[in-house]
Order: sequence, then C-alpha cells, then structure tokens
Amino acid sequence: MKDEKNNNTNIKNEEMKQYAQHLLSKLTLEEKIGMIHGAQLFQTAGVKRLGIPPLKMSDGPMGVRQEFFPSEWKAVGNQDDFVTYLPCNSAVASSWNRNIAYEVGSVLGEEARGRGKDIILGPGVNMKRSPLCGRNFEYFSEDPYLAGELAAAYIRGVQNWDVAACVKHFAANNQETQRLWVDVEIDEESLREIYFPAFYDAVKKGGVFTVMGAYNKVYGEHSCQSEFLLNEVLRKEWGFDGVIISDWGGVHDTEAAARSQLDIEMSVTNDFDDYYMANPLLEKIKAGEISIETVDQKVERILILMQKLKMIHKEAVGERKSGAYNTPQHRKTALEAARESVVLLKNERQILPIKKEKQTRILLIGENARQLHANGGGSAEIKALYEISPLMGMKNQLGGNAEIAFVQGYCSDETKQEQQETNWQEKSLENGGGSMIQHENPKLAEKRRKLREEALQLAADYDTVIFVGGLDHTHDCEGNDRPDMKLPYEQDLLIQKLLEVRKDLIIVMLAGSPVEMKSWIHQADTVVWSWYAGMEGGNALAEVLLGKVNPSGKLPETFYKTHSDCSAHAVGTFAETTSVAYREGSYVGYRYQDKYQVEPEFCFGHGLSYTTFVYADARLDMENQKICCTVENTGNYDGSEVVQVYVRTEGSKFFQELKGFEKVFVKAGEKEEVSIVMERIDKDALYCIGSSSRDIRLMVSWEKGC
Ligand code: BGC
Repeated sequence: MKDEKNNNTNIKNEEMKQYAQHLLSKLTLEEKIGMIHGAQLFQTAGVKRLGIPPLKMSDGPMGVRQEFFPSEWKAVGNQDDFVTYLPCNSAVASSWNRNIAYEVGSVLGEEARGRGKDIILGPGVNMKRSPLCGRNFEYFSEDPYLAGELAAAYIRGVQNWDVAACVKHFAANNQETQRLWVDVEIDEESLREIYFPAFYDAVKKGGVFTVMGAYNKVYGEHSCQSEFLLNEVLRKEWGFDGVIISDWGGVHDTEAAARSQLDIEMSVTNDFDDYYMANPLLEKIKAGEISIETVDQKVERILILMQKLKMIHKEAVGERKSGAYNTPQHRKTALEAARESVVLLKNERQILPIKKEKQTRILLIGENARQLHANGGGSAEIKALYEISPLMGMKNQLGGNAEIAFVQGYCSDETKQEQQETNWQEKSLENGGGSMIQHENPKLAEKRRKLREEALQLAADYDTVIFVGGLDHTHDCEGNDRPDMKLPYEQDLLIQKLLEVRKDLIIVMLAGSPVEMKSWIHQADTVVWSWYAGMEGGNALAEVLLGKVNPSGKLPETFYKTHSDCSAHAVGTFAETTSVAYREGSYVGYRYQDKYQVEPEFCFGHGLSYTTFVYADARLDMENQKICCTVENTGNYDGSEVVQVYVRTEGSKFFQELKGFEKVFVKAGEKEEVSIVMERIDKDALYCIGSSSRDIRLMVSWEKGC
C-alpha cells in the first residue's frame, strides 16, 4: 500500500515535536498526568498557565452526540446540541461510494468543530464477523478492503476540519457479550488478513490522528494496554505516531497501561483521580517504579496532536478552521448518502417503482414506518434536529394529492425500550459490559393479534400496500448481541398473512443488521432494504419507492438465510463469556460462503436497479494498474452501478476476494468507460468483474490478453 506522507509533513512534524518538547520541559509531573486521563467523562485536563487546552471528545459516528454533564451520565438537556443525524456506517458502506464516505465524514468533522470538539469517536471499522453483533450498524462491512477504503475517505473528510477522527475499536471487537473480559482466540494470519486491514488503511490511507483500543482481550491481553496490538503492530509495524485512546473503562492495570503505547485513559466512572493512569500512576512514578519517560512520550504525542489540530502553537501551524452544524449543505449530504444506501433486494414483477396509477391510495403497515431511531443504539445515539420517517417521507413526496394511511400492524415491546433509556453507560462496566438480549415478552401476543387483524382487513382496500418492519435499537444496540436473526414482534407471521392477501406487497426492511427472511421471502416479489439512514432516511426511501431515485446500494455484508450459516457460528464460537474461538480463521462472510458453497439469502455486493446494465470489453491496463470495462445502461432509467472486481488466484485459500470497485453513473441508453484502480495486478490472477460477488459478468487475466 502506498504511504501518502510527504516531505513537507515530515518537516512540520519535526517542528511540532520540538515545540512539544519545549512545552514538556515546562510541565510538572502532575500536569502531565492530568493530560493522559479523563478529567471529565469526555475530556482531559488542560494546563491553563501554559495555554494548553483540554482535549474535548464526543461520540460519533452518526453525528455529534448531545452534551453530558462533566461527571454524570446525564444529558444536560441543552437546546443547542441538536445536530445533523447521518446514516449509520452500514448505510454509508452500502453506497460503495468513496465520495459519499468523504462527504459524510466532512459533515461530522465540521459539526464536531462547530460544537467545539477536538476528537470525534469514530468511525468504527470492526469487521462484521457475525450478523448478531449488536454494534454492527456502527461498522462498515465484513470485507476489509471495502471497510478500509470507505473508512479512509471518511477520516479524511472528518480531519479536513481540524478535528481528529478516532478509528475504533482496535482490535477484533466483534461481540458485545462480556465485551470487557472476553478473550479472542485467533490465529495471527487471520488477524492480519481480516481484522487489521481496515485499521491499517485508516492509518495509512486515511492518516487518522487517533485510534481507540477495544474492550476485549486478544491473546489474553486487554487490547487497550496490549503490547502486541499497540506496540508491535500499531506503532512499530505501521508507524502510527498519533494518539491512542482507551475505550471507556478499557484499562485494567496501571503498570501495563503506562508501559503500553496507550496515551489517554478514558472511563465511565467519575472518580477521575483514581483512574489507573491518574494518581496510581503518579504514585508509581514517584516511587521510582515507572519511569517518567513513559509519561513524557504520551504527553509529547498529545501535544503534537494538538498542533495538528491547530489548538496550540498557532503562530506556526496557522489558524484553526471554524465549524458549523445543521447547515442546509449537511442535510443535503445526509439525503444524498441516504439515497445511495437503499438496497433493492428483490423486484421480480417490477412492482417498483410504484406506478403513477398506484399512487392514489397507499397504505403503510408496520411500526418502523413511523418509528424514529436517532435516539438509540448506545454511544452512537443522536439528538437529531429532525428525523423523517418512511411515513413522513411518503407524505412529503406525494403532497396532499394522495391518501396515505398508516396502521401499526405489529408493536414493539415498549417496556424494553424504556429500560434502555435509563442510562446504560454509567452501568456499562457491570456484568462485563455486555450481554445477549433475551427473547421478548410473550404477553403481547393478544395485542399483536388485534393489530394484525386490523392490518389484514385494510390491506385489500388500497392501491399500494407497503410493509415497513425490521429492527430497532433495542436489537441493534451497544452492549447487546442478538440471540438469532429472527424478526422480532411476530413480524414474520404478519408478513406471511399480508402476502396471502397482497401478492404485490412491497416489503421494506429497516434495520442495522440482516434478518431471517426464509419464512416469506419466496412468496415476496418486492423487497427493499433500508438501514438507519439518518434524518433524511424517510425522504430517500420514498424517493426510491416512487422512482424519483433509482436505487444503487449494494450489500456490504452477506445476508445469511440464518445465523448458523455464518462461519462464526458454523465453525467458530460467538457470544461466549470468557473466550471466543475464531476457528473459522479468515473465512469470514462471503469468503466462507464461497469457499464452502453455502447459499446466502442475498450475497455480498448484491443490489438491484430499476434499469439494466450490460458489461463489456474488459481490459487490464498493466501500466497504470487498472482494470477497465464499459457499462451500458440498456434500460429506461438513468442509474448508477457499482462495478466490483473480485480476484481469484490459483492456490489461494480463498475462492475470491474483493480488490477493487467503482461506482459509475450511466444515463439510460448510454455507455460509460469504467476504470478501477487496483493496488496491484498479478500476472497469474483471474479478475472477475461483476455486479455482485455472485453475479460475475466478465473475467480477464494477463494471460488471456488485455
Ligand atoms: C464505546 C465507545 C464510545 C465510548 C464513549 C464506549 O462504551 O465502546 O465506542 O466511543 O463508550 O461513549
């Protein structure tokens, strides 16, 4: 991979280092210690007399989180911390569009700056090892290349605003169950092939300024104080010279943390002076048990970061950019990203887009048609300026000229949602900080039966019936893993029955991770996937359903028929409490499905369009390390296609791997030349160019001629 550092930055780095050392020589030990641990829940201590400000942090990644009291997990309740609510990272990944990732990152950076933050705690780039991990919606993909490419663009967008991105959680943080204590048993090759590359790309291609360690252990060591992860890999091998921050409560030992390459300890408790890298460290240094140089190194890196962010040494580094939040441009980006994230999974009878004559009386069924999702999910929760639900989106699009009715159809378990609202983060260190959610309350059966009856009766009476179901943040949530991929709230039954009365039912699934569809998917002709798509999600979805926007999203992860088809469950273990065995090694996602010929419900890279694309004329451009082909739009709608390049090499342990992609817009009836830049082109590899991992249209290799 190419290293983007240039000489100019190196000279500047040297100057920054000198200035950092100059400040360091003036700092007392107590002041230094204050800079390397949380003095509040989201900030370190500054040193006023030397003009060193505190470092202010905020979650990420779907927007800048609301303000909390300095030492209490209670929202302040300000009226000025509503923000742009951006699509979740799974949605961003569905766009397969680096520009979208950059723009979303840029909104986040500008808003973080506008809210006075220095570090935004994202993006999350952990691999989706299992569809059941509760935080999957915060992550990009099961594929390291796709995640790395998008994360790097996203980070550049954030950091363009003199705000640091904080790529998280390094490394192998793939389950929530016992997340503070679980030990990941994995062979090193798989770590390097699957779990490291997105972090590597964040460092090398994205130039990320800060990295957050993970809660879990790897090889018996807590990630946030791991010699192997932080020192051997991150610092020595990758040359990362930025700041490493612990996850909140991820440090467990003063000596180990001090000696490791961790720079800042953060936690969820308010006994800030008692943090491992606070008074306990001070005492050990005074007693001569730990050298002061270990602290100096950390402080030096923090002071360099502050210069990169133009927080100090302004005469040399220049003026810091000022940010803004809730700008019209930000909402436009949120809408653009949401549009590109919608995935058309199935459209067998071309019911979509909804024809004009079918737009007069529309019935939306399902809680997710009206449910708002911003304010949930754990630390990724957002206090959104607004959020357009699918129901509002349809009404927005069709004005008052259509009758748009809504019935609930099913109901969630409200008691669970209430439980979730009482502040979980304060208690997040208890019970190992994560568990498996329980199946829901069976007592709601009667209420649901009635809701179902009502929906079924109405369904026959409308031109168009749209079911909007899926999950919510009681399932897609930090601190929880799902027990399986089943749809909650008896939705399967409702969908089956609806399909009996309406063969033309349009099914919209709105969720942060895939769900089992096997009990109805064969009867359904029309299925659309929407993620938690941000404040403009409902508008984007309605535009797609009505044909104002041609869908172009592609799945960034395998949609399994059932979770036991996924290698983490079929071969390895998941959601164990003390150690979890990654026996599947590198066979994660489609790499396993392809190799062992397991049929997915929808494969990696899948996503339909209202138009048709014909691929032709594949060529290898060895000189420029490119793969080229043409894509012709042979249908009636303008549209974008994601051209994907999978590499197959004889003797490789994988059947194929994604190594390139490009999204191209092609007008109806026209043809575009696409060139995909590859990191390398091997003479003995076969390059398969396709519309998904299982819809390969062209193959080209060096031997077959270019
Ligand atoms: C999460 C991090 C988050 C931090 C601060 C932790 O519980 O794992 O992703 O950034 O809290 O809210």
